[in-house]
Amino acid sequence: PAVSPAIAKGLAGVVVDTTAISKVVPETNTLTYRGYPVQDLAVHCSFEQVAYLLWSGELPNPDEVARFVERERAARRADRSLIGLVTKLPENCHPMDVVRTAISYLGAEDPEEDDNSPTADHAKALRMMAVLPTVIAVDHRRRHGLDPIPPCPDLGFAENFLHMCFGEVPEPEIVRAFEMSLILYAEHSFNASTFTARVVTSTLSDIYSAVTAAIGALKGPLHGGANEAVMHDMLAIGDPENAERWLRDKLSRKEKVMGFGHRVYKDGDSRVPTMRDAFFAVADRTDGEKWVQIYRILEDTMYEATGIKPNLDFPTGPAYYLMGFDIEMFTPIFVMARITGWTAHVIEQLESNALIRPLSEYNGVPQRTVRS
Ligand code: SDX
Repeated sequence: PAVSPAIAKGLAGVVVDTTAISKVVPETNTLTYRGYPVQDLAVHCSFEQVAYLLWSGELPNPDEVARFVERERAARRADRSLIGLVTKLPENCHPMDVVRTAISYLGAEDPEEDDNSPTADHAKALRMMAVLPTVIAVDHRRRHGLDPIPPCPDLGFAENFLHMCFGEVPEPEIVRAFEMSLILYAEHSFNASTFTARVVTSTLSDIYSAVTAAIGALKGPLHGGANEAVMHDMLAIGDPENAERWLRDKLSRKEKVMGFGHRVYKDGDSRVPTMRDAFFAVADRTDGEKWVQIYRILEDTMYEATGIKPNLDFPTGPAYYLMGFDIEMFTPIFVMARITGWTAHVIEQLESNALIRPLSEYNGVPQRTVRS
């Protein structure tokens, strides 16, 4: 009898390709972007510097960062047709639908859409990174019945986004916590959405199509959508004294607890300690002690009951909530950050492309005959 090849369900444990963009080492709990530990980048760099690093392979020198920042700031404006498109979409659709549609539209409107040269793709990646926060902020404000606030070229990437959403720049500790979350979210090797972008790219399709597809993959609650689910759960818990019972009941029903577990990290997510501290700093300044208590009880109870630790979405959920974002904006913010990683992977995939096309083992009905 024919021997079946081993099936790698969910591609678990399969090494699909090489990458020079980031390295995840679960055994030592480390994550590096282009060789730099992400914890150090989160403390010492701006999000713009990290985007430059992911795309070019090196941290920028002062001249390079100045030129890069100038280009990013000049590309932030969304033209009238894009704003018109955003405001025409149903207000009750998920903001991830808006983000996905906006990127697809940017592709449709770009006459160079099919130019896959590295120079063209770098320019498109920068444009998407620059304009997406404007789109998300316009969407946030229209859902509150508020007029858009135009981007401000005097503000950094993180500050400008917060200003476009809330009409003011929050205190520096909040801005820093937000910027740290963007840096931690920016890149994570062959996760589901990045792999999606690489699959699309492998057919020699365009970068907008790759990013549009990646957004679709990120939306799901087993991936980026978990940061929203975490906050819905915390609100349902409501009070620290309910937290342990809530979690044990959930586990007894064999339900997944959002914000916990990871395909690659089995002993904790390397990004969590940095983001947990950022969340606690935000909570200190926003009267968020209750959410810190719920966080700690869920983390401890989950570990005691299952040995499973939180992933990055666990601290970002309540941190974004305390910063004032509506829950359904959390995953679009993840997109704002991860668009840098996705596009770096698109460019890398094209450097040594091979069509991604795995095999499947057929297990349907045996061959039969059509009877006329
Ligand atoms: C992200 O890949 C990346 O890098 C992703 C990401 C990135 O930066 O791109 O890090 C971002 O997507 C973070 C993950 C966000 N998702 C969630 O928080 C959803 C909840 N988590 C789980 O569903 C789960 O942990 C996954 C989907 C994240 C990973 O799942 P795997 O690797 O497919 O593992 P599994 O579901 O098969 O779980 C193995 C065991 C099972 O128990 P047994 O059947 O072996 O007894 O662990 C249990 C699971 O039931 N388990 C959980 C659990 N996670 C794993 N049990 C309860 N709650 C959980 N969250």
